[in-house]
Amino acid sequence: MHRKDTSKVAFAMVGLPARGKTYIARKVVCYLSWLGHQTRAFNVGSYRRAQLGSHQAHDFFDPENEVGRAALLQMAVSALDDMTQYLEGSGEVAVFDATNSTRARRRLVAERFREHGIPLVFIESVCDDPHVIESNIRSTKLRSPDYAGRDPEEAVADFKARIAHYERAYEPVDEPDLSYIKIVDVGKRLVLNGIHEYLPARLAPLLLSMHLTGRPIWLTRHGESEYNVAGRIGGDSPLSPRGRAFSEALGHFVRDKIGSGGLDVWTSMLRRTIATASSITDRPRTWRALDEVDAGICDGLTYAQIREHLPDEFTARSADKFRYRYPRGESYEDVIQRLDPVVIELERQRKPLLVVAHQAVLRALYAYLMNAPPETCTSLQMPLHTVIELTPNAYGCDERRFPLGPFVDGSGDLGSSPPPGPPRSTGSR
Ligand code: SIN
Repeated sequence: MHRKDTSKVAFAMVGLPARGKTYIARKVVCYLSWLGHQTRAFNVGSYRRAQLGSHQAHDFFDPENEVGRAALLQMAVSALDDMTQYLEGSGEVAVFDATNSTRARRRLVAERFREHGIPLVFIESVCDDPHVIESNIRSTKLRSPDYAGRDPEEAVADFKARIAHYERAYEPVDEPDLSYIKIVDVGKRLVLNGIHEYLPARLAPLLLSMHLTGRPIWLTRHGESEYNVAGRIGGDSPLSPRGRAFSEALGHFVRDKIGSGGLDVWTSMLRRTIATASSITDRPRTWRALDEVDAGICDGLTYAQIREHLPDEFTARSADKFRYRYPRGESYEDVIQRLDPVVIELERQRKPLLVVAHQAVLRALYAYLMNAPPETCTSLQMPLHTVIELTPNAYGCDERRFPLGPFVDGSGDLGSSPPPGPPRSTGSR
C-alpha cells in the first residue's frame, strides 16, 4: 500500500439515476477548479457510450442481466484506471461520476484508492421527491445522447424503467468505515461521516447550498465613475453624469424584467456601485468581498503614471496578470479566494439576483458561473454599461448581454494595451 497522499482527493458519487449526481459532480469540478485545484470528473455513462454506443435499453441495467452487469463493471474499471492515472500525475482532485449504488461496488472503489494511498470521499444524493425526480429526468435525460432522436415520452418511460432496476439493488451509504457526505432532498439535510481532509470539508457549504431552481443572475459593473473619466484606477469616486444615466437605465431594465416579483441586489462597499444600484434600492446588500481588486500603491494612479513611475510593476503585471499582486494590494488569484463566500451565497439564494460590482471581481464571478479556467478570467470581456444575464441550467448557464445607457469606450484594463495618449473613459481594472 502507498503512503497516504493528502494533497490528492478522490470523490465518488452515489445515488439512483436522476438524483443530480452529474450536476453535483460538475459543480464540484467547477468550484474546486475555480479555487485553483486541478480537478476532473470521470463519468461512467460516457465510457459506456464511447465503448458500446448509446442506445442500451433499460434491461441492460437490470441487475439480473449478467451481460449488462459485466459490461458496466468493465466501464467502471476503465474510468477508475484513468482516474488513478490522472491523480498519480498532475491531477489533484478527481470525481468518479457513477451510481456506485451497492456496497460491493463501493468496496471495490474504496479498495482501489486505498491501494494508491489517495483519500476517498463518497458523495451520495438521496431524493425521493417525485417532482424533483421528474424534473431532473425531463431537464437532463431527454437531452442525453442515450435518448437522442427518441420520442420524449418513450424516452421518459425507458428511463423510469432503468431507475426501477437500480432501485431493486440500491443500498444507501451507511458503511461506518467510509468517509461520506450524504445530501438529502437537495440540501435540506447534509450528513458528514469521517471527513478529515481540508478539501472535502470545504465542499460542505457548497453541497448544502446548491439547487436547481431557475432564476436569472444579472452581473453589471457600476456606471462610469469620475475616476473612470480621468483614467485613474481604484479609489472611491462618485458616478459621472453618464454613470448616473446608466443607473437610471439599469432601474428600467430590472423593473421590466421582474415586474412585481422579488429581487436581491448586491453591491460592493464602494460608492460607485451603491449609487448605481440606487435607482432600484437604497438598501442593497453590501459586501466588502465585492470591492474591486486592491491596487495597493497604484490606487488612484493613471495607467500612464504607473508605466512611467513603476515600470517594473507594469511589466510584471503584463507578464502574468492572473498571479501578479499589486504591492500592498491584491492579485486576481487573491480576489477569487475572497469571493468564495459570495459564490456560496449566490448558489444558495433562489430569487433573481443583481450584482453591481467591478471589472476584476465580475470577471472572477463570471469564470465560476461559466466554468471558465480561472487564469482566463483576466481577459474576459466585461464592458461598462452592459448587463450580463446568466441563467443557471443543468449544464452551466445560458448567457445574454444587454448594453444599456450611454455608450462608454474602453475596458480600462491595466493588463491590456493601456492608452498612450490623454485619458479616455475607462473602467476600474
Ligand atoms: C451509466 O452507464 O450510465 C452509469 C453506469 C453506473 O454507474 O451505474
